[in-house]
Amino acid sequence: MSLVLVLNGPNLGRLGSREPDIYGSVDYAGLVEMVANKAAALGISADTRQTDSEAELISWLHEAVDRGADVILNPAAFTHYSYAVRDAAVQIGKSGKRLIEVHLSNPHTREEFRHKSVISGVATGVIAGFGVDSYLLALSQLAQ
Ligand code: DQA
Repeated sequence: MSLVLVLNGPNLGRLGSREPDIYGSVDYAGLVEMVANKAAALGISADTRQTDSEAELISWLHEAVDRGADVILNPAAFTHYSYAVRDAAVQIGKSGKRLIEVHLSNPHTREEFRHKSVISGVATGVIAGFGVDSYLLALSQLAQ
């Protein structure tokens, strides 16, 4: 069974209570459950994690490379400025695995500082603006 690490950056543990008008009403536990159910239906093993720490997120990207896992990554605010996360993320593609950048909201419809992603240039693809479905769409793509 193929493995995907579903990695979530800062503040995503606050889903459900954090700006629900933007991020929706599903909480983080609900996201984990929906990802697990979809992955099981697709025959994928999904390991979903969240951290507020840049260092921990980078260590998980290194782990994905070492374990030969695909990655679904919501870098949250790191999307817009973390060259360190980008430098870790680039190794996913170079190892022959896929990295799908996901966002719950569509950053391009929001503040200007969100319009730039330093991650997209090293991602296999980007899915944004579909709420929790962004993750489920990414899983479907990885299953193909
Ligand atoms: C986000 C969008 C980012 O701009 C923001 O910093 C987040 C969440 C999203 O999923 O829509 O924390 O990545």
